[in-house]
Amino acid sequence: MPDMRIKVPGTPETQYEIVIGSDILPSAWAQIKAAHTQYNRFVVTDEHVIAAGHLDALLGGRPAPYFAIKPAGEVSKTIDTAVAIVEAMEKAYLGRDTVVIALGGGTVGDIAGFAAAIFKRGVPVVQIPTTTLAQADSAIGGKTGVDSSVSKNAFGAFWHPAAVYIDVAVVKTLDDRQYRSGLVESVKHGLIADAGYFEFIEGHLDEILARDPDTLEMLARYNCRIKGSVVEEDPFEKNKRRILNYGHTVGHAVEAASDYEMLHGEAVAVGIIAAGLIEIELSLSKPSQLDRIRAIFERLGVPVRVPASMVQEKLIDLMRHDKKAVDQWPRFVLLDRIGQVRCEDGQYAVQVSREVVVNVLKKLR
Ligand code: GLY
Repeated sequence: MPDMRIKVPGTPETQYEIVIGSDILPSAWAQIKAAHTQYNRFVVTDEHVIAAGHLDALLGGRPAPYFAIKPAGEVSKTIDTAVAIVEAMEKAYLGRDTVVIALGGGTVGDIAGFAAAIFKRGVPVVQIPTTTLAQADSAIGGKTGVDSSVSKNAFGAFWHPAAVYIDVAVVKTLDDRQYRSGLVESVKHGLIADAGYFEFIEGHLDEILARDPDTLEMLARYNCRIKGSVVEEDPFEKNKRRILNYGHTVGHAVEAASDYEMLHGEAVAVGIIAAGLIEIELSLSKPSQLDRIRAIFERLGVPVRVPASMVQEKLIDLMRHDKKAVDQWPRFVLLDRIGQVRCEDGQYAVQVSREVVVNVLKKLR
């Protein structure tokens, strides 16, 4: 039974279902087969996911063609990897009657979704996220892409999934750093859309860090409801969907400046603190609000400062490539209060002067 349906009019799928549960990976294959009876299946995954046993759990001994991304991680999120996947599918004599199954974290989902979008002008993709980051964010919403040598997701497509299966039991195998950093996107959802969810996270950090499946199912339901409703309203990021980029303007710059040594969630944590400092500089919020956010990040053990080695000018230059930039200067998603994003003149990304941003970056050292 689907837990949720997300409607995305104007796309080949028009709507898709999200299934949430614990230990649902072994039954997902049969469900995908039943939903795509005339289709072949091609799995895209990575070496970490295979080593954790998730590919075996999905296939249950059935033979199936698959592509393992090596090395796992952002470093492989390139156009070359997308080309290699498309060519592997051709070599396996697959056609448009193929469903791509993305089994992995955010990088796998983004690359596999992009390969599905371009393979013979597009085939369906099913997302099976295996990290806290992908389960909270990247597997839902249809953003796919790979990085260029200049910036993140420079090649990309909106390619909404045919279905999403969220098995909260699989994150048990994640290393602690990956597990904790992915939770930052859940905190972000509370900040942008639901103060009650933010309080739930504040009050359940012990259970979350203990990877309690019931608590993780609650998180998944909150995340899918929040992200799903934003995506339904604005599937192609014309305006409202920008709120999902809270913390990402500075976050993406910090991530790229670290040469992807920092994990996405870690960089977004720094970006969220930066956004909070901007809100304080502009008298939009009080320091006590930022203290609550910082306290959660400190419990999660994610960074709340820009590393001292990062060159200020490099960060500024990277921010000029932000997709919300106008005249080569980014606009920022900011909060009016926890659970409410600021909207000025109907726009969810607002102008902030260079002086304020430079000041905040200095304070973040
Ligand atoms: N991760 C932001 C979005 O999906 O729009």
